[in-house]
Formats: sequence, C-alpha cells, structure tokens
Amino acid sequence: MPALTTTTDGFLLHGAPFRIISGAMHYFRIHPDQWADRLRKARLMGLNTAETYVPWNLHQPEPDGPLVLDGLLDLPRYLRLAQEEGLQVLLRPGPYICAEWDGGGLPSWLTSDPGIKLRSSDPRFTAAIDRFLDLLLPPLLPHMAASGGPVIAVQVENEYGAYGDDTAYLRHLADGFRDRGVEELLFTCDQANAEHLAAGGLPGVLATATFGSRVTDSLDRLRAHQPQGPLMCAEFWIGWFDHWGEPHHGRDAADAAADLERILAAGASVNIYMFHGGTNFGFTNGANHDHAYAPIVTSYDYDAPLTEWGDPGPKYHAFREVIARHAPVPEEPAPTPGPKLPYTEVELTSRTPLLAHLDELAERVHAEQPPTMEELGMRSGYVLYRTALPAAGDGLLHFEGGVGDRAQVFVDGAPVGVLERERHEESLPVRALRAGAVLDVLVENMGGVNYGPRIGASKGLLGTVRFDGTPLVGWDCHLLALNDVGQVPDAGTEVPGSASGQVPDTAPASSPDAHGPVFYRGEFTVDAPADTFLALPGWTKGQAWVNGFHLGRYWNRGPQRTLYIPAPVLRTGRNELVLLELHGTTSARAALTATPDLGYEKAH
Ligand code: GLA
Repeated sequence: MPALTTTTDGFLLHGAPFRIISGAMHYFRIHPDQWADRLRKARLMGLNTAETYVPWNLHQPEPDGPLVLDGLLDLPRYLRLAQEEGLQVLLRPGPYICAEWDGGGLPSWLTSDPGIKLRSSDPRFTAAIDRFLDLLLPPLLPHMAASGGPVIAVQVENEYGAYGDDTAYLRHLADGFRDRGVEELLFTCDQANAEHLAAGGLPGVLATATFGSRVTDSLDRLRAHQPQGPLMCAEFWIGWFDHWGEPHHGRDAADAAADLERILAAGASVNIYMFHGGTNFGFTNGANHDHAYAPIVTSYDYDAPLTEWGDPGPKYHAFREVIARHAPVPEEPAPTPGPKLPYTEVELTSRTPLLAHLDELAERVHAEQPPTMEELGMRSGYVLYRTALPAAGDGLLHFEGGVGDRAQVFVDGAPVGVLERERHEESLPVRALRAGAVLDVLVENMGGVNYGPRIGASKGLLGTVRFDGTPLVGWDCHLLALNDVGQVPDAGTEVPGSASGQVPDTAPASSPDAHGPVFYRGEFTVDAPADTFLALPGWTKGQAWVNGFHLGRYWNRGPQRTLYIPAPVLRTGRNELVLLELHGTTSARAALTATPDLGYEKAH
C-alpha cells in the first residue's frame, strides 16, 4: 500500500488528508553544499514537498554504466537532506525530463543512434531504459516512503501527450517501476488540454496537469479528463527560462501569487515550477528548436521565488502569504539575503592560444569525411576540425546540412567568419592565399534540444564540406571535452597591457592570437568565501571556470551578463579564474560583483 493514496477529490498520506504544496528544485542545478540551505528555505516558504527530476544523461554517461551518484549527483544524499528538513519528495525520473536540460536528459549515446525511436516502445529504447532503471532504483528504494523515506510519488515520463501516444511505452515504464520495487503512487503529467491528457495518460495512473495561468479552465479540463481523484498542477509555471539573444523573462509576483491563490482555493495540490531554478553549470543547458535552434542560457533562475543564488525574491514573500491562508507555514522568520563577496577585480595575467596548443588539449582522430560529434563520441564541448584548402583564391565554403551548433572558421589561423545553426547559416566566402592553406573549423555544441521532435539532433559538422564545390577530405578532428582545465598549459605569456586593463591589438590580424580562441588565467584572493557574480565587460563569448569548477557559458549577446559563482566553489586565500574566450576581449580584467545581471533592463 503506497503512503500516498487518492480519494475522490484529494490525497491521503498515511491515511490522513494531505494537500501537496510542492516546489521544484533540481539537485543537479545546485552546488551540493547548498542543498540543505535551499531545502530549508523551501520549508520556510510553507512547502511540504520538494520535487526533482533525475537527469539520466549525467547519471549514466556510458551505455554500460556504472551509475554516477556522487557530488552534484548524489541523489540519495539529497533525499536524506529533504527528509531531515521534514519535506516529502516527488520524484520525476523521466527517463525523459525536458527541463531545458541537455537532450531533455536522454543520453547522447542513445539519441545519436538514428535507428532508435525515442520515447516509444521500440525495444532498443526500452532496453536502454530497463538498464538505467536497474541501476537507478536499487539505491533509491531505501528513500521511498514504503521504506520510511521521503519519496511519496513517482512520475511516469514527462508531458508525454505533447510528443506521442504510445501507451504501451508508458505501461512499460510504469511496470518497470513496479517490477523494481517502487510501491509509491505513480502519476503522469501533461499540458492541460484534452488531447495531451488523453495521449499522455495511462489507465489506473493519476493524471496531473501543467500550466501557468488560466487556472480555472486548466483545472476544469483536468477534471473533464479525470472525473474523480485529486486535482493537481504538477508544474505551475511562475516564471520562465531564457534563450541567448532574447529578452529576459520575468513574471509579476502579484500575478503569480493570484494564480497560486486560485489553485489552492480550488482545493488542488500544486508543484511550483520552479521554486528554485539554480544554474545550468558546465555544458548542461538544453535548447529549443521550433522554427529555429535556440539554446538556453547558463542561469536557470526562472524568476523563481528563491533566486538562482538562494535569496528570497518578491515571489517568496508573496507565495508564503498565499500558502499561509491555506496551510500552516513555519513560525520561524523568512530567510534574508545571504552575504556576498565584496567587489573584486581579477587580472587575467596569462594567455594560452587554443590553436597553438591543440595537441596538449585534445585527443586527435583522423577521418576522410568530417564525423559528427556523436560519431566522435563527444557528449558536449567543442571539436576543432582541421583540413587543407586545395587551391588558392576566393571561394565559397559550404557546409552541407549546416553546423551543430556554432562554427568559427579560420584560414591559416586568421578568423574568417562564424556560422550559426540559430541563423540557418551554411556558407561562407573565404580567401585562401595559397594552395594547402590550413582550414580550421571550431564547432561548439551549444546544448542538446530538449523538447519536440528534434531531440538528438546531431552536433559538430553535419555533412560534406565543399570549397567551391570540391569536397574537402582528410580531416583531423581535435576533441575538446574541456573536462579538466588544469590540463591547459600555462604558456606564461603575459597579457599585453594587463597592468592597464586593456589589451592593445598589436598582433597582426592574421595571427590567431589576435582574435582566435584563447585561454586566460588569473588569480584573486578571498578573505571569506561568499556568493558572487562573474562580470566580463569587454569579453565576447566563451566558458568560465573557478578553481576548476565549470561555471558555464558566457556571451555578450545576453540577456544574461553575469555568471553565478556559488560560495562553496571559493576558498579562503588564493583562487583561480580560467576563461576560454572564443573571439577577443578589450579588457584583461574580470570582476566579481555583488550584483547579478540576468538582463533585468529588458524584463517585461
Ligand atoms: C514543461 C516541461 C518542463 C519544462 C517546462 C518549461 O512543463 O515538463 O520540464 O521544460 O515545460 O520550463
């Protein structure tokens, strides 16, 4: 008997009436040293439950396992902390999770096989799922309510009705949980319309709905689909995510609070998506691809009640007041903003040009035709593809099928242009000053599509590359996973003008040092670690690491202008900042500032 059961219009937990007032918070988007703090703040807002997805792609990076379950991925520890805080847990193990997460959580070793029909009862897909569940569920079973743990319900798939209608696949998943010992309540979630609810539902499994507004209509549609049982909004969207190059999203706190009031006044249960969004650290962000490819930014702040950096925002207080009208809220005072590091400038004192140090940084694979990143076994990061141009003169470089997702092109080390999947760019005029000129194409995987039919779309060079119609063959592919920036050789080259903070553009335009990708390194001192934000005025686009911790991507395209540095990444005394700047900088300095900038000036 599951701990959580349903009645004609509500839930019982261990036999007593229970309303789920939950908030989404993804452990994999929060530094593990901050999990306890975030969970405590969830309880203090009045939540009785915390919800999380489980990212298959990170937990099982290789098809044959093993399961990765440490550090940021130590889900059992997260569940223990939730329980210590007195919170119940809703677990959403996917295996598809959407979530603006790389590939929607489906591992690239799986999505790269074009023979596999994803999210279906294709036996090759379900066999992969079965292997994952075999690995994942044994360490989680002790944390299920049946064993005295906090997990009271488990979601089957995710908004499946928006994607397919293969009920046998949903049944396989539900049976897969049961066969491996999960006794807890199962549920599906779908966007609140009749078609999605019908296609994504499973007889005998509780249906829930996802929506952000039009509360009454949405709950009515859920009720029409499921005449009896608890009403639950499994994702109440109180904010939204951002794409690079688009305005920052915000939602008025009073407006969101009014809708929360409507949900609770209707007697429904709720999971606030997100309570605390966190960060897409490293290469973990996803992308949308509707009319065009649109990668998600590094911050997943989501305009949530608890900000990306763990401070209560306007919604925190507004929601706490709403919840207090319907359920007991702890009497302890609401949390206040945490300390921030004092403003600190970081001088980037050494520079290591990428193209000059490829062999130290990258494994090299030779191929006649350019392989995709998946064919090269690259889950994320960059590949530098190198070949020679056959003839001197002007010509058109054409990339059949385009690039995945952004390519910087160099001839004999000189930058000649950029191609972006976002802009459907496939061709570029180039001039080779000699036959045999070196063509370098540095391709960045900007994040795997996480929603819709394009999940698993390839990265890297996607087809034949031609120079004035002649196919280019014989490629050296340099695999830049960038898992360990400690490997970046310290070329010891002083940054010109670092004392003045300006890099004079003294190198000739044809030198790769002038505008090409360069690793920069600098040190700074911290008296007492505290949260801070990395600001990079004058820098263009790249990656940032602090003490080896990969903060993620930066890009002056915005809207996000600063990267969150969690306090636990810093140490008292000497700290190190490493940047991979892909284009160029007008400054040799970065700043650690107490003021985040997610693009508020454009908020609507
Ligand atoms: C849907 C998905 C979530 C997330 C939100 C948008 O509801 O289920 O994973 O992608 O959209 O943030």
